Amino acid sequence: MSFPTHRPRRARQSAPVRRLMRETHLVPSQLVLPMFVREGIAEPQPISAMPGVVQHSMDSLRRAVTEAAEAGLSGVMLFGVPSVRDATGSAADDPDGILNVATTAVAEEVGDALVVQTDLCLDEFTDHGHCGVLTPSGAVDNDATLERYASMALAQARAGSQLLGLSGMMDGQTGVVREALDEAGFTDTLIMAYSAKYAGAFYGPFREAVDSQLTGDRRAYQMDAANAREGVREAILDVEEGADAVMVKPGLPYLDVLAEVRASVDVPVWTYQVSGEYSMVEAAAERGWIDRRATILDSLTAFRRAGADTILTYWATEAAGWLREQL
Ligand code: PBG
Repeated sequence: MSFPTHRPRRARQSAPVRRLMRETHLVPSQLVLPMFVREGIAEPQPISAMPGVVQHSMDSLRRAVTEAAEAGLSGVMLFGVPSVRDATGSAADDPDGILNVATTAVAEEVGDALVVQTDLCLDEFTDHGHCGVLTPSGAVDNDATLERYASMALAQARAGSQLLGLSGMMDGQTGVVREALDEAGFTDTLIMAYSAKYAGAFYGPFREAVDSQLTGDRRAYQMDAANAREGVREAILDVEEGADAVMVKPGLPYLDVLAEVRASVDVPVWTYQVSGEYSMVEAAAERGWIDRRATILDSLTAFRRAGADTILTYWATEAAGWLREQL
């Protein structure tokens, strides 16, 4: 009988040895919490398709960002839900618009402890629900939308956002926003470009979270699920246009793209574990079909292994608590 020469199991024999031999690590500072704030409500509103996630009131938002900072997160990413919408999304660059007002409040509350971030896109603010303004025939007008994004960028920077998440998937948006910020003196405002943002079904529950008015889909601007090389190209273009970080989104279904982008650019790569990913785990856990905590930690670890530097996840504050228990 010959004995095995190679014994990979040696590395798995005990918790301390496994920790020693571990290739990737997950810590709270790698997590960012996406949050929704809704205009004109006094109490937080549950989102039925995302149990545990709410549309915040201004008060509940202040409490939740304080918890996020205490949990050691690196940032919060704010999404606004306005009470009035129009064709051009005027509330988006109105200094009194919900997202801008909330940004200032959050910056006052936790601006020294974490990076206050804002979603820069028009879809929550338009009455047709698209991420840009429309041509007379109803198509999304790329270059007219860029002007709106430049204006939104200035409103968000003035409100106190330190990092703009460009999620609209318009061509040239990173360059236009960078130039607008620099011309106005906001040279320190960071840009995180949602470079490879794929169209598809995984954003379903988010539509309820922001009361989306969209009919139809975003396939004329967000990417085709079948394309990986194109995702890498989009990331390279955003870096050339001045992005400080790039993102691949959704998360778990696109780990291959994440790994390829990681190998192709020299800026931090982020990922977004989106609403559909969240809801699937919550639903299965509620039925007792999977172990909720272990599944969440497995998924977050998978992002790190595939090359993500930073992860947007609705579980950020809770997961950070577990990670600190493990230390
Ligand atoms: C667009 C935006 C969306 C998400 C983040 N930013 C929706 C979309 O593209 O349709 C989805 C996030 C999620 O599903 O959790 N502003």
